[in-house]
Amino acid sequence: MTDFNPHIVGFLCNWCSYAGADLAGVSRIQYPTNIGVVRVMCSSSIDPVILIETMIRGADGVLIAGCHPGDCHYDTGNLHAERRVKIVHRLLDRCGLEPERIRLEWVSASEGSRFAEVVDNLVEEIRELGPNPVAGDQPDLDILERLYVARNVLGDFRLNLLVNKEHQIEDVSNVFGETIPKERMDELLDTVASEEFNRCNLLMLARDSSISVQQMADRTGLPEEEVLDHTVVLVDRGLLKVDRVDDGSPLYLTISQDRGRISTLPAWAQVEKRSIESSIRNLPDVDETTKAWIVRELLLTLRCHNCERRRSDACHFSVCIRGLMSGVVG
Ligand code: FES
Repeated sequence: MTDFNPHIVGFLCNWCSYAGADLAGVSRIQYPTNIGVVRVMCSSSIDPVILIETMIRGADGVLIAGCHPGDCHYDTGNLHAERRVKIVHRLLDRCGLEPERIRLEWVSASEGSRFAEVVDNLVEEIRELGPNPVAGDQPDLDILERLYVARNVLGDFRLNLLVNKEHQIEDVSNVFGETIPKERMDELLDTVASEEFNRCNLLMLARDSSISVQQMADRTGLPEEEVLDHTVVLVDRGLLKVDRVDDGSPLYLTISQDRGRISTLPAWAQVEKRSIESSIRNLPDVDETTKAWIVRELLLTLRCHNCERRRSDACHFSVCIRGLMSGVVG
């Protein structure tokens, strides 16, 4: 493995780490040339979907480098980045890919030599891990399929909302005046990531031909009762249907969705999302990033399924922890 030359993508925050990399360059500090740098305004600018997409596209490793805690130019951006990377690590683990391939580091503008050390160290670690198994001519299709699941899950509403609003949920409080402690938030993120990953996986298994709960349990290694719980949620969300009954056992089929982009967002919310997207698409003089942000913020104004059912106006959906915890949101 010694002649393996890893390909690493580095997302560097403009204000600290990019300047640190620049300092390493002008100070002629040697570091491996395996890294391709993308300058971003803050470490929090990197959507977790992009991290998974980078792995799908064959990078052997990713470095995200930002300002030290307390120094972020956007106040708490680096802390948001930390939370997002944690979630991505958990999902990578579920995909069968080493979480160490994605690393978050703090490097200030004056730490040119530290930047060089970080890159050196990461390249060595990736060399030990070997090439990305989904890169090259013969990708590991199992891992690749699971990475697609992870990408879809991260792009979806429930997890996306939690990952992007955790500061407000932890420190500011939701519409009910509730805050939740960091440890509880970590647990909640774990649970949501795991539930949505499994549900998306089941939708992918049932997209081409109908499949029973028992078969889904065999294919995923999940207990049958858990698979049954997920199918109930997916049927309730209008994403899965009973196709036929075979020997007394119902066979489920995913209700038609774009093959490349299976979503666990409830069917009613997908219709709303499409209409929001189409009205935003033609906005003049607005770049794609801003359009995506507008869509996300408008999605937050959708009423949750729970409120729809109860015809309640109590929740304005700024951050509905109750809905998120009970799984009715997104
Ligand atoms: S500005 Fe550097 S991490 Fe936010």
